Order: sequence, then C-alpha cells, then structure tokens
Amino acid sequence: MTLSTSSRVVVPGGALRGELRPPPDKSITHRAVFLSSLSQGTSRIVHPLKADDCERSAEAFRTLGVSIETNPEGDWIVVGRGLYGLREPASDLIYCGNSGTTLRLIAGVLSGQPFSSKLMGDKSLSGRPMDRIVKPLQKMGAEIRARKGSFAPLHLHGRRPLQAIEWISPVPSAQVKSCLLLAGLYAEGTTIVEEPLRSRDHTERMLAAAGVRLTVEERRVSLQGGQSLKPQDWVVPSDISSAAFFIVGALLAPGSELMLRNVNTNPTRDGILEILEKMGASIQHERSLVSGGEPITDLLVRHRGLKAVVFGAEIMPRLVDEVPILALAATQAEGTTEIRGAEELRLKESDRLTHVAQGLNKMGAHVEELPDGLRITGPTPLRGAVLDSAGDHRLAMTFAIAGLIARGETEIDNADCVDISFPTFWQDLERLRVQS
Ligand code: S3P
Repeated sequence: MTLSTSSRVVVPGGALRGELRPPPDKSITHRAVFLSSLSQGTSRIVHPLKADDCERSAEAFRTLGVSIETNPEGDWIVVGRGLYGLREPASDLIYCGNSGTTLRLIAGVLSGQPFSSKLMGDKSLSGRPMDRIVKPLQKMGAEIRARKGSFAPLHLHGRRPLQAIEWISPVPSAQVKSCLLLAGLYAEGTTIVEEPLRSRDHTERMLAAAGVRLTVEERRVSLQGGQSLKPQDWVVPSDISSAAFFIVGALLAPGSELMLRNVNTNPTRDGILEILEKMGASIQHERSLVSGGEPITDLLVRHRGLKAVVFGAEIMPRLVDEVPILALAATQAEGTTEIRGAEELRLKESDRLTHVAQGLNKMGAHVEELPDGLRITGPTPLRGAVLDSAGDHRLAMTFAIAGLIARGETEIDNADCVDISFPTFWQDLERLRVQS
C-alpha cells in the first residue's frame, strides 16, 4: 500500500517464490554510456539500466553533444563523438544528481577537454569526498576548484594533453580508478593506477573490449594515452547489487524458492555470495555463461537458517554495496557477526553504518556500530517500525526486506529513492510474494 509519493508500508508475511530478472547493472550501464560516447560512431546498449543514476550519465553526455536515443526495442543508441569531439556545452553546468559514478568518471573526461565546466550533485552527493579524484587530476594538469577543497560543486578547466601519472590510491575505489583511466586516455605517456585492494574491474574489461590496450596486474592498471575506442554493442547483465535484496529476502522468508536470472557474477563483485555461503546459505548456480566479457549466472535461492560470520577489509571491495543487506541477514543468523574494515560505508549515499544500525535496532535487532563496521548478534525477531531511508536507495530496500520478516507493519519514509537503481523494486516485491 502506498501512503504518499514517498512513503511505503510493508505488510509482513509470505514467501518469495518464482522468477526474477533483476534490473540491469548500474556500473556497467554507466560505463557503456561513457565508452560509447567516447567512441567514434554508433554503439548500442542492450538492456541499459533506465534509472535515475544512469540517466544522469546519459544526460551529461547529451550536454556534451552526444546523441543518445532509445530505439523501439528499448536499447540506447549512442552516436559517439570520439575522444576529441565533445562539444563545449551552452551552459557549463553538468548536474550529476545522486550519482557518484557520473560525477567522478566525468571529471576524468572533462579534465581532458579544453573548456570549463561545473559539476554539481544533490545534497547527498555534495557531502561526499572528491579530493580522491581532485588531487590526482590536478597532478595530471587539470585546473579544478572544489568547495572546501573536496566537495561538489567542482569548477573544472581541462588541459590537453594531460600528463600521465602513477597514482597510488589510498582507497580501493573503482570510481577513482575509472576516473583516472579515462583521464589517462587524454594524457601523454602511461597512466598507472594502483589500489590497496582490487576494486570492480568493469572499466578495464570494457576498455579492452573497445580496443584499448591496457595492462592489468592484480592491483595495478596502466594504459597509454591517445588510444581511440571502437563502438560496440554492449549487453548489460543483471546487477548483483540489486539481486542481493531478493537473495537475502528468499533466504530469510520461510517457504521461499526464488530463481534470479542473468546475474552478473564478476569475481570482483561476488563477495556477497561467498559470505552468504559461509553463513550456510544454499544458493545454486544453475546456468553460467560469459556474455560481453562478463560472467552471467542464474541463481536459485531457497530459505535456509543462517549462522554468524566474520569478515573484513580484504573482501570489502567485492561486496561494498551489499553491507546493509548482509547486516539484515546477520540479525537472523545464529551467533555474533562482525563486519570490519567498512569505514568507506560512511561515505556512500548516506552514512550506511549509522543508518542501518539505527533502523535495524528500531526493529528490535542487536546491532552495535563500530568505527569501521558493525557487530550484530542474532537471531532476533524483528518488529515493524517507522524507518527513514535517508534518501538512500540501498537502505530503503534493506528495510523493505526487513519488513517482510517482521511482526507488524513497517513504514518506510523516502521510499521513492529505490528509483536510483531499482525502479521496479516495489512491484517485483509484491509480484513475488506468496502467502504460505
Ligand atoms: C561504483 C563503485 C563503488 C560502488 C558504487 C559504484 C562504480 O564506489 O560503491 O556503488 O560503478 O564504480 P567506490 O568507487 O567509491 O568504492
């Protein structure tokens, strides 16, 4: 039932049964828009994620003169302008909304353009640190002014050519890595990015598919500037970060048996499956294939009792967006779960450690917030409560799944933010629920 445009009530009970093709991958859709726009010629993006975040990337490139249109099949047709054909926009403003990926990646591209631009975001994005890209881009020769040295809006004037650098990133971050690799295309020399742990590698896979030669040595990636990109047909698989809510929902709701189709199980993204399996989950990998350079799997998930688990920094980049839903799983697991090395979670769309702990505790869970993670003792029965998503899509969906297994109704305020990554979430949840 809907209360208002932004509040949702979740009535508890029922199992999750049937089949779902989760929405297309957000990270891959962003990158398909970027690489197609920077190629010379026409690319096709099959199954793009048509959600707020990726629309921001598409809109940014339209502002820069790229044509991106939807064909009758629903694909995006992108007529790229090549690395050097982007147009100076009539207004210098590029609005990135809630999307960190749009802002951080486009800053890399704009650093190589001989014109000025201003990058802005919504309230959440304006509070997220940008010094992690500003410093290396300045070192490459771009002029960038950030509010208080680190926050959007960013005022940027590019330089051509940029200077290649070797950058040792203090944080594992695919957004930082991708930003610098895109800037590296405009640089003289070889740009090298090293990170403390390997982050998701879609940019590397997709640049290689577009014909860019790059060297990947575990935590180090390098590429030579001046290489051009070839247009492609990109086929976007389903997002494991969106599938995660239904995977955990099916594990927790008694009587559930759910088939999730076409899920991208890239080894830099599949940490959630490893942790849930350690917790005793039964997740069958039914059909595996490789499409567009990415592994795709159908996952069959059945309800199962879970046990506690301990995990830390080493696996964090492989499940960074899944910590809130894993925290919910831990409230229903036998024993004390410890999640450490997760301080980056405080810098996402909201402070996810604080908000997930507060929300789940309001429902009766035992979640202790640690400076770098969470300690969760389970199993605890959950009771319905009034919760605020803080405008964070992954918190809204975590609380919705919690509401499914709670006693009493759960009201989620600011629930429309699911549109950022999973516009059909509420309909899919209703469709797959069966009263057992
Ligand atoms: C993303 C990288 C991750 C992730 C975000 C998407 C990407 O962020 O949390 O949702 O598409 O590159 P960081 O690079 O900040 O870790």
